[in-house]
Amino acid sequence: MTKSKLYTPLKIGSMEVKNRVMMAPMSTGFEPADGSLSEPIINYWVERAKGGVGLIIIGAVTIDSEVPYQTPQTISLGEDKFIPGFKELTDRCHAYGAKVMPQIAYMGAESCNPWFKGIEAVGPSSYVNAQGFQCREMRLDEIPPIIKKYGETALRAKKAGCDGVQVHCACVYDARCLPLPSAKQANRQIRRQLRQSSETCFRGHSRNSLCRR
Ligand SMILES: Cc1cc2nc3c(=O)[nH]c(=O)nc-3n(C[C@H](O)[C@H](O)[C@H](O)COP(=O)(O)O)c2cc1C
Repeated sequence: MTKSKLYTPLKIGSMEVKNRVMMAPMSTGFEPADGSLSEPIINYWVERAKGGVGLIIIGAVTIDSEVPYQTPQTISLGEDKFIPGFKELTDRCHAYGAKVMPQIAYMGAESCNPWFKGIEAVGPSSYVNAQGFQCREMRLDEIPPIIKKYGETALRAKKAGCDGVQVHCACVYDARCLPLPSAKQANRQIRRQLRQSSETCFRGHSRNSLCRR
């Protein structure tokens, strides 16, 4: 019997994934409100690693603990204190041969800040978000610190033993809205980004200033 291609290794940049079974980024509802990785949520992914998944992407990890996602339960890698939790997660998943990548994001316009903290959500343009809140257009001077946070978060992921990071560019998270020269080039660049592992991001060969961090 021939082996299904699904169970053959795949190289993404310099990272080799043991098979092509990949867990898409998904917020689970197990996320604790303090942004940490609790035992139940770590176990949730370890079970997937045990089951044979080649690459696990940890959905919606904020680069700024003060800017959570659409609920206050948002995993954070925005501070060094979250590194040990991620280290435990990656060590335990690595024990089963799975690779682990957090999907990092600045929640920006989609943050629940207005609702839970009374803080204005800030996005690339003024916009009414999914919860019906009007977000404020970001000032130019607010952009570089956010780009810096992406870099710092990627470094924390590396310190925690993660195999890379996925930059969340879907929806209206701010990374998607960073200007690119043309739609055609954007498509090419996004395709290239998808092909690249985050180890490549760490080395700084990826799409934009955010990845160069
Ligand atoms: C409960 C749930 C949570 C999700 N959370 C995220 C997320 O945090 N980040 C993301 O990029 N996509 C998220 N998604 C989208 C999934 O990663 C995936 O793209 C989507 O479910 C389509 O894949 P499918 O057709 O295999 O279901 C989520 C999907 C579900 C069902």
